[in-house]
Amino acid sequence: MMDNTGIAIVGMGTVGSGVAKLLLQHADRTARHAGRNLRLAHAVVSDISKPREIELPDGVLTDDLQRVLDDDSVKVVAQLVGGITNARSIMIQILDAGKDIVTANKALLAEHGPELFEHARKLGRSIAFEASVCGGIPIITTMSQSLSANQIVSLRGILNGTSNYIVTRMDEEGAEYASVVAEAQKLGYAEADPTFDVDGSDASQKLAILAHLGFGAKVRWSEIPRRGIDSINLDDFAFARQMGYRIKLIAYAALGPDGLQLSVAPMLARIGKPLAEVRENFNAVSILGDAVGPVFLHGQGAGQMPTASAVVADLIDTAVGRTAITFQTLELWSKNSPNIKFDQPGNLAGRFYLRFNVDDEPGVLAQIAGILGEFGISIASVFQHASQASKQSGVPVVIMTQVAPESSARNAVEKITQMSSVRDSYERLRILE
Ligand code: HSE
Repeated sequence: MMDNTGIAIVGMGTVGSGVAKLLLQHADRTARHAGRNLRLAHAVVSDISKPREIELPDGVLTDDLQRVLDDDSVKVVAQLVGGITNARSIMIQILDAGKDIVTANKALLAEHGPELFEHARKLGRSIAFEASVCGGIPIITTMSQSLSANQIVSLRGILNGTSNYIVTRMDEEGAEYASVVAEAQKLGYAEADPTFDVDGSDASQKLAILAHLGFGAKVRWSEIPRRGIDSINLDDFAFARQMGYRIKLIAYAALGPDGLQLSVAPMLARIGKPLAEVRENFNAVSILGDAVGPVFLHGQGAGQMPTASAVVADLIDTAVGRTAITFQTLELWSKNSPNIKFDQPGNLAGRFYLRFNVDDEPGVLAQIAGILGEFGISIASVFQHASQASKQSGVPVVIMTQVAPESSARNAVEKITQMSSVRDSYERLRILE
């Protein structure tokens, strides 16, 4: 007769329902991997009368968290409530009741990780969070365990499935931004407030977690320079494609001579390179370790079952006792983890894609080239899209530069946009090498 471990789910939204499906419909499989039955004892919701996409055994559904806290047979709780304030208080109550936690809430960890991890350590409990970054991709285990013999040198990732879905549809079909955001929400990829997906906040929260795991960087997510995909012009997808690139939202971390460089921004990825070919809601992370060399992980980073896959793997690891060991040695957000130096965002060097809309008259290009030269920026190629010229919008001119620091490119573009022959709409995107 196999042992039983009681499991509770708090929050039966998209991910919670997926976790219940896996636990109920594949109980044999999870029991085989865990060496014990993972018995779904409680599923806590705020509105018990709401129709559910999965039928739960009698007595499991409840709106009373106290039932979980009082049930000694429940050892592990999947805490899948979104948001911050309420989720934080639920997490503390669960830890105080002597139970381990599995969560997918990266916003909560990015905001309160140090406090919550410290609290769990003090109580001898654990928090597993594989599902919080890149859904089904095992990036947390990879960074914290599989690559622990390495100094991570760089990490480039597509960490937000919603943004990637949107840029894929805009790039491949010329779809309008607003309509694809609504689709991404319908498909269950987006956060409750999709602003966080499209403005780069969600990717920054995930990058803050990965930067801590990979580089020991204690960084607040809101301090990472970020730009989302919400202001990209449809034309730039086509212009970039003509130059051999796709626009992708890239989370970037690299150790440079002056410290760790971090950014989240739309960048141009060369068509044919792995990150450029990551489509729809998929995520990918490209890691360079000093011993292992390059490692590339690719999979579904958002959506019900990919995220539930990571949650259930964590439930199994926690029930077996593996998480307790790794959590104590991980030192994530611990006082003992080292402080590392950060580079100035303006030092991030790269080649740039610049697009200006200009009056079609003699001397304009020469003037732009002059300003770029003034800031030490060399031009690699220029393309004038004369076919798109109109009296209102001017003529789009696309310039690819040689390598220059971000600050020089920013200052040069600012000066160019002050020219009377240059219209308000412009673009400046770094090229991913
Ligand atoms: N909204 C997130 C995304 C879900 O689109 O990637 C997973 O964190």
